[in-house]
Amino acid sequence: MKTLILYDTKYGFTEKCARYLHEKLQGSTIHKLSDNVDITEYDKILLGTYIYVGEINENASNFLIQQKNKLLSKKLGIFCAGLNKNEFSNALQESIDPEIFYHAKIVHAGGKVTLENLTFFERRKIKKRINVSEDIEEFYPKNLDELLVF
Ligand SMILES: Cc1cc2nc3c(=O)[nH]c(=O)nc-3n(C[C@H](O)[C@H](O)[C@H](O)COP(=O)(O)O)c2cc1C
Repeated sequence: MKTLILYDTKYGFTEKCARYLHEKLQGSTIHKLSDNVDITEYDKILLGTYIYVGEINENASNFLIQQKNKLLSKKLGIFCAGLNKNEFSNALQESIDPEIFYHAKIVHAGGKVTLENLTFFERRKIKKRINVSEDIEEFYPKNLDELLVF
């Protein structure tokens, strides 16, 4: 089975998760979403993205819309970062097309924030939305491992 790992990242945590999967999945191919790789020849797509102000990142969202028909004919896994556990499922369900949502195996990867990397506005947003006021990293490799076997 040919597996393609695609990811989009702003501050690097989703990339770390993508690299974790790539190391474990021998023979897999890894690319940034922005590389615009042709997905036709792959049987399984693992897409990494993150929640940003209540919704999955726009690039991933656009990819899922544009490639919907191809993706529905393949195995599709989505690993998503987000630091608000309570809104994880809702945020995904609301920002992903229902057919894709029910077709995909979706796992929560954890999330990371390093405050000094954020802009002033981002710090304010994240404090207000999810009450993060110090550096935090939560990494869930067991959830990612679920994407190795389906
Ligand atoms: C400005 C900002 C807004 C965020 N908004 C949310 C949010 O609404 N819900 C959530 O679960 N996580 C939120 N996060 C947490 C990110 O999903 C988390 O930091 C993730 O690791 C980012 O991925 P990246 O490191 O690959 O860029 C936010 C992070 C930032 C910096």
